[in-house]
Amino acid sequence: MAKRARYRLSRREFVNLVVGALGSIMGAVVGIPIIGYLVSPALKAQKSEAWIPLGPLENYPIDVPTPFNFTRTKVHGWERTVSSYGVYVLRTAEDQAKVFSNVCTHLSCRVKWREDLGQYACPCHDGFFDKNGDVISGPPPRPLDQYETKVEDGNLLIHFVEG
Ligand code: FES
Repeated sequence: MAKRARYRLSRREFVNLVVGALGSIMGAVVGIPIIGYLVSPALKAQKSEAWIPLGPLENYPIDVPTPFNFTRTKVHGWERTVSSYGVYVLRTAEDQAKVFSNVCTHLSCRVKWREDLGQYACPCHDGFFDKNGDVISGPPPRPLDQYETKVEDGNLLIHFVEG
């Protein structure tokens, strides 16, 4: 019968083993929450739509496209991006309005309402839109984008979807 070799831990090896094991456990207890805290913003889904208040509807003159600008802060992980947006509010009645994006549907230049022409004009390639955002001439392939609107307590809001 073969003799089994017995290995005995010395006191020093035993202490080193216990200290190493305790260190690993304490490292996991402290480290896992820290890693979770650092990584969680990158994993969070970002809300990409909202109702944006444009102020009291009565402040907008009827039948005159009126510009309004706002900013949105987008958080992606640890990165924050502030973007500015512009719209035109066309109040069509005492309690109704249409709201158009000021981004040209050709190559995304900003259109500007030209009171002298009664049209939105795009400075980049001479695209023109009528008061309701429909294409009059030039290369834009479709009308200006229009936002869903609602009026709450006299305030105009648009449904903004970030894309
Ligand atoms: S970007 Fe407006 S016409 Fe080209």
